[in-house]
Amino acid sequence: MAKTQQQFVCQECGGWHSKWSGRCDTCGAWNSIVEESIAPKQTARHKRIDSGNFFSTLETSETEAPLDHSRILTGIAEFDRVCGGGLVPGSVILVGGDPGIGKSTLLLQVVASLSQSAACAYISGEEALSQLRLRAERLKVNKAAVHMASSTQLQDILVAIDKLSNLKLTIIDSIQTMISEDITSAAGTVSQVRACTQELIASAKKQGHVVILVGHVTKEGVLAGPRVLEHMVDTVLYFEGERNYDYRILRSVKNRFGATDEIGVFAMGNQGLTEVRNPSELFLANHQNEVSGTAIFAGMEGTRPILLEIQALVAPSYLASPRRTAVGWDSNRLSMILAVLEARCGLSFGNKDIYLNVAGGLKITEPAADLAVAAALISAIKNQPVPPSSIYFGEIGLTGEVRPVSHSELRFKEAEKLGFTQAFCASSLSKKTAAYKGQINIHPLKYLLELVR
Ligand SMILES: Nc1ncnc2c1ncn2[C@@H]1O[C@H](COP(=O)(O)OP(=O)(O)OP(=O)(O)O)[C@@H](O)[C@H]1O
Ligand SMILES: [Mg+2]
Ligand SMILES: [Zn+2]
Repeated sequence: MAKTQQQFVCQECGGWHSKWSGRCDTCGAWNSIVEESIAPKQTARHKRIDSGNFFSTLETSETEAPLDHSRILTGIAEFDRVCGGGLVPGSVILVGGDPGIGKSTLLLQVVASLSQSAACAYISGEEALSQLRLRAERLKVNKAAVHMASSTQLQDILVAIDKLSNLKLTIIDSIQTMISEDITSAAGTVSQVRACTQELIASAKKQGHVVILVGHVTKEGVLAGPRVLEHMVDTVLYFEGERNYDYRILRSVKNRFGATDEIGVFAMGNQGLTEVRNPSELFLANHQNEVSGTAIFAGMEGTRPILLEIQALVAPSYLASPRRTAVGWDSNRLSMILAVLEARCGLSFGNKDIYLNVAGGLKITEPAADLAVAAALISAIKNQPVPPSSIYFGEIGLTGEVRPVSHSELRFKEAEKLGFTQAFCASSLSKKTAAYKGQINIHPLKYLLELVR
């Protein structure tokens, strides 16, 4: 009879230690080590290895049923797009997000939508059936044929979903509440989370259904539990939003079956989440043309163009080292652009406080926003509004040159759709873009200095 094994596991990184200590020497976290006990399953392991079917071939063997590899469309287009154009059968998706952001709402809407064409299960370890029904009523999906359950016992769940035929999607809300019988430590500990995830992954691969795990996010904004969780699953999505806005953004940060720079935009309302098909309209809703210090950036989020307003404020500073604050944009990049404006364009920001903000609370990571940031700064310091109905995109180099960025054509088209008439961008456009003939009047720039003039 094998003994129950005691071990000390860091709840931050999942590292194992032979004894307790105040600080994890793997990741350096303090007070993160917790004693956990694991019942070893040695007999089972020997049996499995003995059975002699360990290796297989790359070709589909006769013994296993070939998986249907066509992607599953849930019917919620924003969600499907973020997943890389639908869900891949047998894959496991982790959805993380702050408490109360709307993870359960989103996933209930997803299963309700898919349940029209396939069997779906929604298992909640956090809410009772009555609470789930209440939400379903509010979202007007209470007629959907979803297999609902409220349970935290992983082994029960696995047996139950194994019996569902034509099962396509299983939601586990949340992975931190699940308890595997093999592990004696409390729910939400690294060992439990890891073991439960492993079993659910095995179930997804075997049965060919998609498993979506809801994961809690810690104060620091990373998924609670070990980072190993992110390595184990195929896709990691974050559901995020600003407290003061009712839109929500689903972002993919890892995807074994698709691009990771894709976002889906939703608006949270009384009746749940509605898809925002044209996010630019949402983000430009409060834009005013005649104000100095703002410029419209024609950006890309994944495969979709999106227009955003960049606001800059330049004010006299009474501090020894003036403030440089950027919200939604990298502050190092802001410093670089300020330096280029000073050194190459003769503008002086020396004794000024500078605030930069991406309106709507979105974060921009694209260097293509450089030109729009520069335009907003120039407009702010000169106290002149930028030319009306104009958009900006282009990367700025240290010599003050404006560099071309990809997808110019898509950016032009999006701007055209929203009634913009002028575009400022790099002069060395690709052939395809140079052939663009639309409503937009293009002002090609070689150097940033031309924009200042
Ligand atoms: N009656 C209601 N009317 C309008 N909006 C509501 C109502 N009830 C809840 N909401 C919205 O739904 C959000 C909660 O959604 P949901 O329970 O799906 O979040 P969650 O991410 O699953 O949270 P948790 O981490 O607690 O599980 C609330 O923050 C609120 O915005
Ligand atoms: Mg929830
Ligand atoms: Zn650690």
